[in-house]
Amino acid sequence: MIIYYSATGNCKYVANRIASKTRDIAKSMIGYNDSGYLEKDESLGIVVPTHFWGLPTFVEGFLSKINIISEDKNPYIFLIATFGTSLGYCCGYLTDLIESKGFNVSAKFSILMVDAWTPVFNLSDKDKINKKTLNSDRLIEDVISKIASKNQGDFVKRKLPKFACDIFRKISKSGRKTGHLHIDEKCSGCGLCKNNCPADAIELQMKKPVWIKNECVMCLRYLHLCPNFAIQYDNRTKNHGQYLNPHIVSLD
Ligand SMILES: Cc1cc2nc3c(=O)[nH]c(=O)nc-3n(C[C@H](O)[C@H](O)[C@H](O)COP(=O)(O)O)c2cc1C
Repeated sequence: MIIYYSATGNCKYVANRIASKTRDIAKSMIGYNDSGYLEKDESLGIVVPTHFWGLPTFVEGFLSKINIISEDKNPYIFLIATFGTSLGYCCGYLTDLIESKGFNVSAKFSILMVDAWTPVFNLSDKDKINKKTLNSDRLIEDVISKIASKNQGDFVKRKLPKFACDIFRKISKSGRKTGHLHIDEKCSGCGLCKNNCPADAIELQMKKPVWIKNECVMCLRYLHLCPNFAIQYDNRTKNHGQYLNPHIVSLD
């Protein structure tokens, strides 16, 4: 079983690639309504994006609630964090959560992919994005071959110490305030944002999105998905383009 969380498709792509190679099933944490039961010889994979040098709040909530039960005492458990620039302690937080449930982590990986945090990164140059995507494909291939042969070990790159990431995560909490988000005149009121918000933070009022929560995951999925590119984060995203993993035809 492979469980992933993906806002803009990178982790979904990685999870699906591994699943097809290892004849496994990849399931999204969004709308997940299964048990965390592992049959004999069944492995568990978790694939998540890095958010603010750590885990997306959605993933923290999901993993602290799920009850993992395994027929094997020591199932093969692999963790993957995708990231765009600096991983921080994302894989470390993930490991801590799995170990707190009484399981050992067999292998952990980080994969450098396109950075969907467009308040900082400019993704408007499609050639650059394509090059990065090709590079990620090579990294994914390597991770897949290690997982297919059930390699054990810590293959995480670009990590930072926990204490620094704990501090950064506290400071960056304000970055998840929905007050940063607004719509511009291009909004057609289609409601795609409302239907694609994993935090259910949007309501349509007079056919326009209104944020009804003070904070959200800030995954930016609807900013990247909006057909008119009408949702912006302060004045920092307008010239930075939209991004969805090019291999993914639908999000969950
Ligand atoms: C809110 C947010 C915060 C992010 N923070 C980081 C970060 O701290 N370090 C990093 O390298 N990438 C960061 N990223 C980039 C994502 O980890 C990266 O693009 C990931 O592959 C996205 O996966 P997904 O498309 O499956 O959601 C961030 C992206 C978002 C939306």
